[in-house]
Amino acid sequence: MRQIKVNLPQNSYEIQIGQGLFEQVPEILIGLGFKSRLAIITNPLVGSLYGDRLNANLVKAGFQTAILEVPDGEAYKSLEQAGHLYLQLSKIQAERTTPILALGGGVMGDLAGFVAATFMRGAPLIHLPTTLLAQVDSSIGGKTAVNHAGLKNQIGVFYQPRLVLADVDTLRTLPEIDVTNGLAEVIKYGVIQDKVFFTRIERSLAEIKLLSSGLVEEIVSRCCSIKAQIVSQDEKDLGLRNILNYGHTVGHAVETVSNFKWKHGQAVAVGMTAAAIISNRMGILSGSDMEAIISLIKNAGLPVKLKDLDPAKVLQAIQHDKKKIGGQSLFILPVSLGEVVINNKVSLALVEQVLSEINE
Ligand SMILES: NC(=O)c1ccc[n+]([C@@H]2O[C@H](COP(=O)([O-])OP(=O)(O)OC[C@H]3O[C@@H](n4cnc5c(N)ncnc54)[C@H](O)[C@@H]3O)[C@@H](O)[C@H]2O)c1
Ligand SMILES: [Zn+2]
Repeated sequence: MRQIKVNLPQNSYEIQIGQGLFEQVPEILIGLGFKSRLAIITNPLVGSLYGDRLNANLVKAGFQTAILEVPDGEAYKSLEQAGHLYLQLSKIQAERTTPILALGGGVMGDLAGFVAATFMRGAPLIHLPTTLLAQVDSSIGGKTAVNHAGLKNQIGVFYQPRLVLADVDTLRTLPEIDVTNGLAEVIKYGVIQDKVFFTRIERSLAEIKLLSSGLVEEIVSRCCSIKAQIVSQDEKDLGLRNILNYGHTVGHAVETVSNFKWKHGQAVAVGMTAAAIISNRMGILSGSDMEAIISLIKNAGLPVKLKDLDPAKVLQAIQHDKKKIGGQSLFILPVSLGEVVINNKVSLALVEQVLSEINE
């Protein structure tokens, strides 16, 4: 088991990463001072895979538990579902001190996190991420949100969990597409911060995809410590934290234009490709580093082309994105492997040109 601390001015917390961690949840919670009532928020699929057993263990340890289920899918990351959850929490007489366990992928983490942040002005939140994407990214850093009026993550709040427990054993049941999806964020960490890690991913890609436990634990841990260190320096996303958005300026636009048919990781993969090409054209990134980034994305099984999406619509969506400074879209541009710069001077004409080049 590996432990990583997210150091914050207030509300620091620990991420634990390892095998068989979910078996230890009751004693870990008791160690945090929780004893009686708690709520597990999950979806029916993850509930049947991991929730039932977790619940049985908690009951055995003397907890009074309630499993609250939300249907599976991004469409349910909504205020409406949050409303249902508040009602159910009231029904089970949850109090402000009742811990909420968010069990599932990024959708569940964002929704249950938002509910925990707002129910009675904030109940203790424990993240139990079960997708690669959630273990390496969404469960860390305290961003919670729901989608609203067709806009992604439109309503949300920064709210740090009390603890994150990433049991890498749970990844074994993950469909291949979701493993690939999570790999986009893994590659992102290499590009933005750590050349050695980038090379490690390049060399062990096949084994990573097979999810061999020791290796996955190492990979998840490295990602978590990079994110923890960035979040520690800029909890509220006012500067440095922007670098975590490498690939996300075009990525979010791709998600929007595809009506969320593209998975987040796939969209980010195309976005990372576009940002690498833009950076190269601006004379910032060398051709060989650009090729290395694009090859790794491709070899991971992620898309590097827009496929059936209209580049003009993607460009329009970029202009509407919330990641802007002084009215200019913000791009995170690789300088070399392991280093990026935040840039708001990318010309729209260049973005347009690159988008049409990667249009298939
Ligand atoms: N808060 C943040 O900082 C942050 C960062 C990145 C992404 N996100 C959000 O995360 C969401 C995407 O998360 P995701 O990619 O984890 O998708 P997801 O939560 O939809 O999970 C993908 C699918 O895998 C299933 N699943 C989960 N765990 C499983 C397991 N162990 N075995 C089998 N199936 C399992 C889920 O039920 C779902 O069908 C998006 O809403 C995105 O906006 C948030
Ligand atoms: Zn992301």
